[in-house]
Amino acid sequence: MKLNATDQLEGGFEESEALHVIAALERTPIDLIDISGGTYFPGARSASDASASGPYFVEFAKRAREVTSLPLMATGGFKTLAQAQAAVNEGAVDIVGLARSLALDPALPHHWQAGEGVEPELPRFVSPPEGSVTAWYTLRLTQLGEDREHESLGELDEVLAEYEARDAARAETWRAHFVFRDEAIG
Ligand SMILES: Cc1cc2nc3c(=O)[nH]c(=O)nc-3n(C[C@H](O)[C@H](O)[C@H](O)COP(=O)(O)O)c2cc1C
Repeated sequence: MKLNATDQLEGGFEESEALHVIAALERTPIDLIDISGGTYFPGARSASDASASGPYFVEFAKRAREVTSLPLMATGGFKTLAQAQAAVNEGAVDIVGLARSLALDPALPHHWQAGEGVEPELPRFVSPPEGSVTAWYTLRLTQLGEDREHESLGELDEVLAEYEARDAARAETWRAHFVFRDEAIG
């Protein structure tokens, strides 16, 4: 189960509440809790748009450890083998989750297992428009899926426009689909 440590919205889901949820999950058959944070709510911060230099849910994971015996994972900001090993060795987590690093180098865990201290080169974005970093990585995943990862992606505003246009086109498809289903039910 992936759970926010906080959604970083004023009046929203906070760390103290997340700890209550984690404690309650102890009585369920859940196998693993993956801790992350943020939301895609407009105006909110999302973990995948964050630019902090290191992992950002390790301290929270340590607090979670005190309220659960379930295996824990943390996702957010891991870029180097040293960061991942430290989080596991400190006992904060059992597993480290990688999102953007894997989008840049899907073979990263293999390099790390082979003892190669490879670090993915995360692009540096200066004052990125809201949502554009996640849009950039989304299109990067599309490139990977279509074996086009050697092509370069454009500037962030172009990437955001392309991503939004793709979403708008998909929304048309979904709308047509759901109207059809409504009529079928009616
Ligand atoms: C392109 C992209 C799409 C994502 N979509 C989701 C999602 O649908 N649900 C979710 O819980 N997290 C989503 N995330 C967040 C990641 O799972 C992860 O929590 C976040 O990127 C922080 O990890 P990182 O620093 O390793 O990228 C997405 C991240 C990226 C980059």
